[in-house]
Amino acid sequence: MTTGIEIRHYTTRHTPRLRPLLLDIYAEVYAKEAQSDPFCALDRFAEGLDSWMTRPGWTCTVAYDHDQPVGYAYGAPLPPASRWWSGLLTDTPADTITETGTRTYALSELMVRAPWRKTGTARRLHDALLIPRPEQRATLLVLQEHPKVRALYESWGWQTLGGLRPTLPAAPLFHAMLLDLPPHDGTVATMST
Ligand SMILES: CC(C)(COP(=O)(O)OP(=O)(O)OC[C@H]1O[C@@H](n2cnc3c(N)ncnc32)[C@H](O)[C@@H]1OP(=O)(O)O)[C@@H](O)C(=O)NCCC(=O)NCCS
Repeated sequence: MTTGIEIRHYTTRHTPRLRPLLLDIYAEVYAKEAQSDPFCALDRFAEGLDSWMTRPGWTCTVAYDHDQPVGYAYGAPLPPASRWWSGLLTDTPADTITETGTRTYALSELMVRAPWRKTGTARRLHDALLIPRPEQRATLLVLQEHPKVRALYESWGWQTLGGLRPTLPAAPLFHAMLLDLPPHDGTVATMST
């Protein structure tokens, strides 16, 4: 399954073309959750996607199997006045959660269509997105009810900072995680169109 998997890089200038692709994969991957959980509904995800795609510094990696999109990851740097940490439930030193605009990249989404799981594609999407980042560290939120996904991230080097419930209606409980990023100047070859 992994032969022929290619990872392509995108930025905000690709959003009109990318949006339908990202929504289609979300609708497939989260079909069950979207039916039963309003927090996972497709229109709610679309709203969030539109907001993320317009953030300064938004980047995205998409995996293609012979031109068929099979998964993606995206995120953006946290701005200085970010509300990312505002639902943190664990006592944390202020300097750990102080943002400068260039300190932390937030990995917002990582998903792979079921036939391409356990093939290394998710890790490749993750690494291709994060390794070129110029920030010192990355953060993500993983649902507390998904311990296997948290364990997967831990196996990739992530550390759990504490519990967090986003300040959004009907938001579930997450673990906030952090990953130190290797030094990089941020240069990456993106798609031309
Ligand atoms: C997360 C993901 C990209 C990882 O892909 P992968 O590296 O190929 O790893 P796997 O799919 O084998 O997932 C690792 C384990 O987590 C479990 N898992 C993955 N997503 C899960 C979910 N949404 N809910 C519950 N368990 C999940 C898998 O069943 C697997 O457990 P197993 O080893 O007992 O089979 C992929 O599983 C996925 O797209 N999941 C759905 C979307 C998602 O949950 N994204 C993460 C948001 S923080």
